[in-house]
Amino acid sequence: MKTIEEIRKEIEAFQIENAETLEQFRLQFLTKKSEIQALFAELKNMQPEERKAFGQIINELKNAATERFNSFKEISEMQTSTRQQIADVTRPAQNVEVGSMHPISIMMNQVRRIFEDIGFTAVTGPDVEDDWHVFTALNFPEEHPARDMQDTFFIDLHPDVLLRTHTSSLQVRTMENQKPPIRVICPGRVFRNEAITSRAHCIFHQVEGLYVAESVSFADMKQTLLYFAQRMFGPEVRIRLRPSYFPFTEPSAEMDISCNICGGAGCNLCKHTGWVEILGCGMVDPNVLDNCGIDSKKYSGFAFGLGIERMTMLKYTTNDIRLYFENDVRFLRQFKAATK
Ligand code: DAH
Repeated sequence: MKTIEEIRKEIEAFQIENAETLEQFRLQFLTKKSEIQALFAELKNMQPEERKAFGQIINELKNAATERFNSFKEISEMQTSTRQQIADVTRPAQNVEVGSMHPISIMMNQVRRIFEDIGFTAVTGPDVEDDWHVFTALNFPEEHPARDMQDTFFIDLHPDVLLRTHTSSLQVRTMENQKPPIRVICPGRVFRNEAITSRAHCIFHQVEGLYVAESVSFADMKQTLLYFAQRMFGPEVRIRLRPSYFPFTEPSAEMDISCNICGGAGCNLCKHTGWVEILGCGMVDPNVLDNCGIDSKKYSGFAFGLGIERMTMLKYTTNDIRLYFENDVRFLRQFKAATK
């Protein structure tokens, strides 16, 4: 007959891994015919004191076996019920609330992607600028109204420090740091001291574009902008360039697209003209190239700046610019589909 110690070691060493081995364990240690029960049968042949001590030992043995059996059973039942829960494909899915991108971000990314496809690289720069990058290097005359506190937010710290009024400052920063050929697209936020109405805001967004290389022509600009308009508003869109004036371009123009609401027939949005303005553009003034350390005899370029709010209003037919800044989720939620 095995010693009690041997049986105890067997109980501890028994590998219980699944229902089958658990049953083997039960048969070996916990049934009426088990070795432990046989030990209990011995009790009746013993003297009372001996019986007491021996009874205690074999009871401990039986408890140890019962405990191993129960704890394995409990763990495996827990695992089975978790597995059943995971596998229950009929349980209703939890609703995960996802946000949407802001319409202005959607539009800025779209503009950026269209130009990146034809070799432009996106660059960004500071919102708080100095006079040189926003005005002086861009050929603004001393007495230009944009230099007036009426129109521009100056920072109290220093008379030279201001919130940029246009992303054209990034033309200067780029040309100061890169050699031609230069092809950049610069999205950013701009600030003007204006009364807030349904059509104007003191904060808005622009995307600036700049191309400088040898023998860049006005025709290159026109074709690039036509490509952009057609990708943004559809292949049937038409463009028109009207002569204009900016200190940093010569010649300068403003570009209209055929109204995408009425298709050019005339409606409220286009004020019955069939055309809506979306950007300013022109050939970079040689003074600006020279101010930024680029040889204007060797290189030429074109630049453009487009207003993102205006284009977003056109694209999504929104009639009040203030909606973009109020962050009312009932408005923003509508752009969920466009986010994807
Ligand atoms: N900076 C101009 C504005 O804010 C827009 C603009 C016009 C940018 C002509 C240009 C340009 O690059 O060539 O109104």
